[in-house]
Amino acid sequence: MSHEIYESAMRRALELALLGPAWGVNPQVGCVILNADGQTIAEGWHKGAGTPHAEVDALSKLDQVPAGATAVVTLEPCNHTGRTGPCAQALIAAGVSRVVYAVSDPGATSGGGAQTVQDAGIETIAHVLENEAREQNRVWLTANTRQRPFVTLKWASSLDGRAAANDRTSKWISGPESRADSHLRRSNVDAILVGTGTVLADDPELTARKPDGTLYEHQPLRVVIGESELPASARVFNSDAETVHLRTHSLHGVLAALWQEGVKHVWVEGGPTVASNFARLGLVDEYLVYLAPTLLGGARTAIADLGVTTMTEAKSLDFVEIKQLGADILIRATERGN
Ligand SMILES: NC(=O)c1ccc[n+]([C@@H]2O[C@H](COP(=O)([O-])OP(=O)(O)OC[C@H]3O[C@@H](n4cnc5c(N)ncnc54)[C@H](OP(=O)(O)O)[C@@H]3O)[C@@H](O)[C@H]2O)c1
Repeated sequence: MSHEIYESAMRRALELALLGPAWGVNPQVGCVILNADGQTIAEGWHKGAGTPHAEVDALSKLDQVPAGATAVVTLEPCNHTGRTGPCAQALIAAGVSRVVYAVSDPGATSGGGAQTVQDAGIETIAHVLENEAREQNRVWLTANTRQRPFVTLKWASSLDGRAAANDRTSKWISGPESRADSHLRRSNVDAILVGTGTVLADDPELTARKPDGTLYEHQPLRVVIGESELPASARVFNSDAETVHLRTHSLHGVLAALWQEGVKHVWVEGGPTVASNFARLGLVDEYLVYLAPTLLGGARTAIADLGVTTMTEAKSLDFVEIKQLGADILIRATERGN
């Protein structure tokens, strides 16, 4: 069968993967089963922790797998028995002849599925549309490689990099399109984190809301860090989502505790003190900056001291995405070489 057929099936598998949730401990995975002529005979995707993996979901749609079938899957089939059985064994039992996948599984226990199917006499072809699949699952891949949650640091600032005015007000720095975009992204993460300073200054709800104000179905865990007491009446303690107050300044400790709880993606919403410390410690995997066409001047910069005293110590970033949102600009950036 030609490589174009595998690429085209992989493109479809990548689309299917997006039908599953982005939040939760598991990756988004899609699978297409082709018959010996290269025609699609089944499709599947992973619908969240505890449910069948994409390969098993696709196989379940077939009474019998015909001879010469190929499974095209966005991630190397898993090799371990978690809440569901290993996909490598399911593919062997189903009698597929070939497994085509995009990205190797970096997991210490889940990886190695390709070797298992090869040992059973199944042909494997790796790295098909690998870059696209890596980008799609960058949160899960990074978190599993680093064994801590993926950290997105988000802020909204004026063009001159201020996150608040001198009187500490910061509401509506960015426009409605930016806020809608940021709430949609929030609805796809596991936890949203701020310092006590932000709760005391702004009394935010920290929920993921649609433009009409109603809540998205999935609400991230709300995490507040810092030693200050918080009023029980703070809106972050309302019943719209779960909240934990971690009375610590240890960011490594916070990430380790959240990872233990199955948090794969943390969205750090500030404020400047907490944001700077994440950046200073090299714990930011992705910066998301909503830049508004306003000037505020003054002392309330989005990022405070990073310990950089001269240009050679500057943190160098790459802009990986730039998008116009109404009057604002969204910049997604990563640390160079990271
Ligand atoms: N534009 C935006 O995107 C945006 C977003 C958020 C906030 N803001 C603005 O930011 C301002 C609040 O700034 P902020 O810097 O005070 O807020 P913050 O970063 O949310 O809170 C700072 C507090 O967090 C605690 N903390 C937890 N871990 C820490 C660590 N590793 N290092 C240092 N402190 C740690 C400390 O409080 P304890 O004494 O309790 O330990 C510290 O005083 C407000 O004006 C708000 O409107 C703007």
